Amino acid sequence: MEKFVIYGARPLAGRVRVDGSKNAVLPMLAAALLADTPTTLLEVPQLQDVVTMSRVLTALGADVRLEGGGRRLVVRPHGLNSFEAPAALVRKMRASFLVTGPLLARFGRVRIALPGGCAIGVRPIDLHLKAFKALGAEIRLGEGCIEVQARRLRGARIYLDYPSVGATEQVLMTACLAEGTTVVEDAAEEPEVVDLAACLRSMGARIQGAGTKVIRIEGVRSLQGARHATIPDRIEAGTYMVAAAMTGGEVFVDNVVPEHIKAISAKLKEMGAEITEYSTGVQVRARRGELRATDLKTQPYPGFPTDLQPQFMALLSVARGTSLLTETVFENRFLHVAELRRMGARIHLEGRSAVIQGPADLSGAEVHATDLRAGAALVLAGLAARGRTEVWGVEHVDRGYVDLEGKLSRLGALISREPLRAEELARARPPEPVPEWLGRHVTLPAAVK
Ligand code: EPZ
Repeated sequence: MEKFVIYGARPLAGRVRVDGSKNAVLPMLAAALLADTPTTLLEVPQLQDVVTMSRVLTALGADVRLEGGGRRLVVRPHGLNSFEAPAALVRKMRASFLVTGPLLARFGRVRIALPGGCAIGVRPIDLHLKAFKALGAEIRLGEGCIEVQARRLRGARIYLDYPSVGATEQVLMTACLAEGTTVVEDAAEEPEVVDLAACLRSMGARIQGAGTKVIRIEGVRSLQGARHATIPDRIEAGTYMVAAAMTGGEVFVDNVVPEHIKAISAKLKEMGAEITEYSTGVQVRARRGELRATDLKTQPYPGFPTDLQPQFMALLSVARGTSLLTETVFENRFLHVAELRRMGARIHLEGRSAVIQGPADLSGAEVHATDLRAGAALVLAGLAARGRTEVWGVEHVDRGYVDLEGKLSRLGALISREPLRAEELARARPPEPVPEWLGRHVTLPAAVK
């Protein structure tokens, strides 16, 4: 296990390039199972979660390999020979559950463990299961896993009670090969959903309306592999924008779709940062100590993204005034608050809201990451804090950020990655076990007709 060691209070300056979107490429890897021929994905970030998803596909019999010096990830599905996803991997990463729809569409049957993932909330799968049932599938609950079967998948009208990103993606992939028309209402509008739909269309799928609340899918008989470049990672981009603002620096964040970061740019402008947008990137400039407090509420896209809530909480901690931050997407995404308090942040929690009083004079401390975005927030706090900060739990951060310490170092940060010493390992939190409440919360009757 490793930790980041950071010496803070240094303004960042320079240019940083954003990698391809983790949350776009993960569903595309699952979608590659739908095709009869190989799919090539470009702009794929070299991340732990991409490795995990590749291992899931390999365990199912597909051939997955990096080619072209790492610039291309090629999935060859011809060897696909199993409808049973490897439980350990599915429990390790919730996104693995996205193979359910493609396996159901290919084999008419799938057995898969109940998903795991970050410790940011219960994260049920009821909307996924509701969609599978609507498309004609039967669901049986087993020991910590579920079995989904469908003799024939038929198009249906599906209303998602919540614009779930994963459930929307699951429907897009499954309905592509169903007979007839599927209409999804209250669908998620995230850019990653739009990118998945574009990839599926290049495979021969017939999808209209992605990026709006109503998506229409006309089933086809088969799909062919495609060549698709993923969109840039808007959450990685936002993380570096916050880093620039927090340290009172001036950074050009390259490889950004301005439309995708509108909410982030708007919030930073409200706080007094100078944002200049270009066709392929955004310049962020701020003066240390001159950021103003503001209120923030996370929402499904195009609202403010929950995946940047921890990072903005760190930023609001050093802004002048009192901010109210409300997390509406997940019910437990404040695990980073206790760690930020250890650095001097003044944050008071009231249910799903946090009242943040600034500016706090952050000072370095030993802090522990509990999930991917909390880890990023603690790194940002370390960049702004006086003195030395240690961020433990780097394995969480590696799930979603390519070479975070390298990119920050090139912007002038003093940050390094170091192994935990023997005596420290005893104090480190082991990677979170599969929460036993996962099985308990999905309260499905044994055989759901
Ligand atoms: C995706 O997760 C992202 N992950 C998450 O990013 C992101 O935070 C989330 O969307 C919201 O934007 C990937 O794309 C791989 P949801 P997902 O289904 O699909 C509830 C990161 O840091 N819900 O939109 O799991 C759920 O409990 C990760 O990169 C149900 O109630 O998110 C949650 O409260 C973290 N029933 C809310 O919806 C369901 O069947 C949003 O979940 C499904 C979800």
